[in-house]
Amino acid sequence: MTGSCRLGWGLAILFLIATLTLSYTFLIQGKTGPSSDGRTAIILTPGERDLVLTEMRAFLTAVQAIIDKANQKDAPGIVKAARAVGMQTAGAVPVSLMGKLPLAFKELGMGTHHRFDQLALDAEQMEDTQQVLMDLSVLLNNCIACHAAYRIEAEQPCTP
Ligand code: HEC
Repeated sequence: MTGSCRLGWGLAILFLIATLTLSYTFLIQGKTGPSSDGRTAIILTPGERDLVLTEMRAFLTAVQAIIDKANQKDAPGIVKAARAVGMQTAGAVPVSLMGKLPLAFKELGMGTHHRFDQLALDAEQMEDTQQVLMDLSVLLNNCIACHAAYRIEAEQPCTP
């Protein structure tokens, strides 16, 4: 092997390691750290935290509306409330924020949007409000699982 060839391989391997490390931190680990209550802390800027928590409050609003509409046996009302937090709304997260969220968090989050769509579909096709309440009860396990595992903490400003 010539010297330049060896250099080429060396660079290729270095590049591969850098790519793998970046993919690991960006896609799988996110920007996380330990926290005082044992949950994994996700470190976000105030703006990013606001965005995640705004989405959370939309989840809670949807849960209330779905129960309310189910009590009134109002299937179209359920569909509307559930679709408001379905997959369609999940695309609004900036890439920079995506990179800070751990993979398991993203999966749970996407899974929750998906379940709201599924619930909307059940309400639409079966008009069975009892089924909707069962869907909702299963879906709420996603909320519980994620809240048990993660919290959000503010990014510390750089100290000189
Ligand atoms: C993928 C993870 C995840 C899922 C799924 C999830 N949450 Fe959250 N939620 C969080 C995190 C993290 C926080 C911040 C908690 C903290 O910092 O202590 C939060 C906070 C909240 C808050 C507080 C909002 C505020 O303004 O302070 C509400 C309400 C909430 N979630 C509702 C829900 C509901 C309802 C669901 C299910 C339909 C849900 N969440 C699903 C991760 C999740």
